[in-house]
Amino acid sequence: MNTSRRSFLRRSVGALALAPIVPVGRLALDPGRVGALRDPGALPDPGALPDPGTRSPADPVSRPVGSRPPQEAWVARARAEIPAATRSLYFQTGGIGPASEAVIDHVQERLAFQNRSPAEPRISAEMARIEPDLRAQLARLFGAETEEVALTHSTSEGISIIAWSVNWEPGDEVVISNTEHPANVIPWYVLRDRFGIVIREIDLSPGTPLIDEVRGQLSDRTRMVSISHVSRNNGRALRAGESAELGDLLRSRGVRYHLDGAQGPGCVVTDFRALGCDGYSTCGHKWLLGPKGTGALFVRRELLDDVRLSWAGSHSHATMDYEGGYTLLPSAARYEFGTRALADFAGFTRAVEWMEEIGLERVEERIQSLVDYAIEVVDAAEGLGVASPRTRPDRSGVFVVRLPEGCDATQLYGDLREDEGILGSPVREERDFRLSIHFFNTREEIDAVVASIAARCN
Ligand SMILES: Cc1ncc(COP(=O)(O)O)c(C=O)c1O
Repeated sequence: MNTSRRSFLRRSVGALALAPIVPVGRLALDPGRVGALRDPGALPDPGALPDPGTRSPADPVSRPVGSRPPQEAWVARARAEIPAATRSLYFQTGGIGPASEAVIDHVQERLAFQNRSPAEPRISAEMARIEPDLRAQLARLFGAETEEVALTHSTSEGISIIAWSVNWEPGDEVVISNTEHPANVIPWYVLRDRFGIVIREIDLSPGTPLIDEVRGQLSDRTRMVSISHVSRNNGRALRAGESAELGDLLRSRGVRYHLDGAQGPGCVVTDFRALGCDGYSTCGHKWLLGPKGTGALFVRRELLDDVRLSWAGSHSHATMDYEGGYTLLPSAARYEFGTRALADFAGFTRAVEWMEEIGLERVEERIQSLVDYAIEVVDAAEGLGVASPRTRPDRSGVFVVRLPEGCDATQLYGDLREDEGILGSPVREERDFRLSIHFFNTREEIDAVVASIAARCN
């Protein structure tokens, strides 16, 4: 080990053992668990795993490091309720979030309840409350009206509903950015191939001027702008004021404005109205820690008739006859149809309640304070840099480490996962490695993961 790497480890890991790669992983994850990650069939009983809130003082993880404040009790309690948070170093919420036991128990309970007799009116009536209650809850928390919320199964579904809502003509244009997830790229490729639309791209790297970027790509053929609220690749969060200004500009030109909010709610303060967009697609299964296959699409009430349906079916309608007549629901629930996984949506409700019990503001503040800490630790690490925005309000829990020349993020991802049970993610830029930092992560985990990255890359 070279001298500078030693001094990095000493600075950032402090009282934690100064040792080569494997023990860094062991600081927060015992070898049994690392092995278990490779072989899910061999996972130990979660009850048998040490809970960070109850580690003995002899365990290095619970020893105070430098001037680090003690772990807050609410974090330890919440962590103990999320099995995945203590089974690995879980920095992959931006890919897929872990759920608490309360959420999974609730899904199971609702599924079993429904299955006692799904057709029995008392049971079906109770199950039928789940979706309206969830729409109202999401509207209240994220700045929409209940009538503006459609429940979906993913962010991708919301994006596709919006993408296919326009009667596209050859030569019509959509503006996306250089930092979109495939979910906000593939639909436009398909529309290009089917209808001949033109895709234009803006640069949403940290620090670029949003409005000027979009203005530079607008033409009299532009019909839609669809970009990320929070970038999965570089962590940039759009400022609400700037986004609202963009919304005004686009409305004045008759251009629809959609945000991909997969990385928004639960990660950064999210207010649909304040962002000034026409549509906002998000999911329950990332930062809101809900069941997998849950999502929501918000559409401004006054645009419901303009955001045309491409898919529809039973339950999209308010009235119908078999003579060709029908009316759609007067709300965004018109974008939903068919029999739905109500127990999962009940779990989504429970997940949001669980986050509210903790306090969404407290969650966001905790994420921001961990990001502050991560910036400090990465700045002190030899060869590593911070690729995501460093200051509020542009930054988010999507924290991106720039690796040294020659260090490949995909290789690193595999090595960290296999050898140390660290779950992060490569992103679009090959030298960028994403750590999704949620409130349940700890400063000790940040020390450990950054030390491991530095040790492997230098
Ligand atoms: C920015 C962004 N958009 C869309 C998606 C796709 O989300 P979903 O699986 O909910 O469709 C992701 C998933 O990582 C994402 O990061």
